Amino acid sequence: MALSDKKPPQHIAIIMDGNGRWAKKRGLPRTAGHAAGAESFRRIANYCRTLGVKYLTVYAFSTENWKRSEEEVSGIMRLLGKYLKEALADMEKNKVCFRFFGDLSRLSPELQKLCAAAVDESKDYDVQVNFCLNYGGRDEIVRAGRAFAADVADGKYKPEDLTEELLAKYLYSADVPDPELIIRPSGEMRTSNFLLWQSAYSEYVFLNVLWPDFGPADLDEAIEEYHRRNRRFGGT
Ligand code: FPP
Repeated sequence: MALSDKKPPQHIAIIMDGNGRWAKKRGLPRTAGHAAGAESFRRIANYCRTLGVKYLTVYAFSTENWKRSEEEVSGIMRLLGKYLKEALADMEKNKVCFRFFGDLSRLSPELQKLCAAAVDESKDYDVQVNFCLNYGGRDEIVRAGRAFAADVADGKYKPEDLTEELLAKYLYSADVPDPELIIRPSGEMRTSNFLLWQSAYSEYVFLNVLWPDFGPADLDEAIEEYHRRNRRFGGT
């Protein structure tokens, strides 16, 4: 069956990996790879909208990425700021609703303001992009645990009230369905602390293309692979 005959997954998540290698191959600084990665993100976000994907979650900066050089970290932050400013100026055209998963308090006050404005000004649009920024899957679960413990201490819940559904409400992804498909380009086959809770039943597709080179045809390939898999959720 042709791809267009099948419904795409409603939620696709992507680990945007391989920017550094893409730049190295060309003798360029790593930041040039991230700039090309940001362009690739725009292309794929537009394509997801065309396909009718409802949620796109991308790993833009992990809790571990602070270990990179000051120059690289500030380069990525600059790119994010530039992207958000442009998105804010073009909200009407893009019609994308922005959300951020992660602890934004470590970002610069200017970037925090841009994130808040992007969320605020886009909340009525229905295609949703979740930027994982200063995000770690373990960190997200620890924070959820702390928040639940605080509610228990306040008398709102008893420890035995905790269920999978209730814990999920304390995650950044509280009202977002789990991704059916998680894509990691660049040939690496790790989950790297991405959406640990939400990926319990996701299909992983690993592609051998660096993120800046990733285009609509690669997304089509990943979706086709997803459709070929037989999702049983632990049943038979
Ligand atoms: C992983 O590739 C990529 C990142 C840590 C940063 C991702 C950030 C962007 C794509 C730019 C963000 C901006 C927007 C607007 C989305 P890597 O650097 O680990 O690559 P390598 O494994 O080849 O070194």
